Amino acid sequence: MIRIHSLNVRYKTERGDVHAVRGISLDIQQGQFFTLLGPSGCGKTTTLRAVAGLEAPDEGEIAIGDDLVFSSARRISVPPYKRDIGMVFQSYAIWPHMNVFENVAFPLREMGRKFSKREINSKVRQALSLVQLEGLEDRPAPFLSGGQQQRLALARALVKEPRVLLLDEPLSNLDAKLREETRLELRELVKRLGITTFYVTHDQLEALTMSDVVAVMDQGRVVQEGSPMEIYQSPKERFVANFIGLTNFLEGRVKGFCPKQPRLGEIETASGTLQCVLPDGVGPGESVVMVVRPEDIHLGTGTPPQQGNVLHGRVEAIIFMGEALECQVAVGSQRLRMKLHPSSGVRQGEAVTLELPPERCRALRA
Ligand SMILES: Nc1ncnc2c1ncn2[C@@H]1O[C@H](COP(=O)(O)OP(=O)(O)O)[C@@H](O)[C@H]1O
Ligand SMILES: [Mg+2]
Repeated sequence: MIRIHSLNVRYKTERGDVHAVRGISLDIQQGQFFTLLGPSGCGKTTTLRAVAGLEAPDEGEIAIGDDLVFSSARRISVPPYKRDIGMVFQSYAIWPHMNVFENVAFPLREMGRKFSKREINSKVRQALSLVQLEGLEDRPAPFLSGGQQQRLALARALVKEPRVLLLDEPLSNLDAKLREETRLELRELVKRLGITTFYVTHDQLEALTMSDVVAVMDQGRVVQEGSPMEIYQSPKERFVANFIGLTNFLEGRVKGFCPKQPRLGEIETASGTLQCVLPDGVGPGESVVMVVRPEDIHLGTGTPPQQGNVLHGRVEAIIFMGEALECQVAVGSQRLRMKLHPSSGVRQGEAVTLELPPERCRALRA
């Protein structure tokens, strides 16, 4: 539905060129909820604006459905209003001098095609009912709450019934509780409408909870693309592991493969020999960094398991997080973070045994 091929965008500034997007290629399927996730400044907004036609790329191609809307080689650049898209900006960009009705009607009035008054009325009301703002048509836009303004921006993006919705951090101005509720509502709405959604966020939880596919971006490039579970459970690079969720890193060197489980290897670390999943093509002698999530580390029960990774340490810090305890355990010179149930009863200073299931430990190339 949206095809981006070898997209490059540079900004000319007084201090030289900023190469904001560096050869990105993405293929977003019809009806998919696709998220670009990355830290501030990595090029997410630039990519989205290029798809909308608000930014002129230097190189590459962009197609929306069967329409080639940008091609540097063929000198094609379709203007924004002729692309079949709706867009919500981080700031919402709703018009403060208009009421709710006029804000939503605006894109219809702006279109080349003329709609009758009745058609406009019915389309606006339908869009407002999708976002549950019916009854507020006459309210001046600034007199809406933050959550209502966000939904107004969404109604305005949907009123033309575009095939593609582009959303740039649309929830970032909402407070935490509302943001959480809106995540699910928004996903359900676009799924119900069957609209292809290209979403941009720096918020990993939004990306994991809303998306069919997540592309993680760093410094103008896509470093990994996959389902939320793949991205979280099988990060292929240190950057991805570090950016998404909390992670423990243990440096090591590959000793060899486990005889009975060829998928697993043994690595030598400062905390002893550990078994873990090795990346393809990595063999003995190579430097790796092992990644294990806090929720995958368990407290030992006393009887050490026959197989697997067992470490001994001392509890250094316990942080109460409400639904969980984050427990920091000193193991040799390392500090490992683990997640425990608040009822677990561990105490600061206590000597503990940790079990790290080998299949949950993943080595990455160092
Ligand atoms: N209009 C602009 N002029 C110059 N540099 C820009 C402009 N817009 C963005 N940039 C730079 O391009 C890079 C990517 O920005 P952006 O796409 O906004 O990142 P993100 O949305 O991921 O935070 C950043 O280094 C940013 O400073
Ligand atoms: Mg941005």
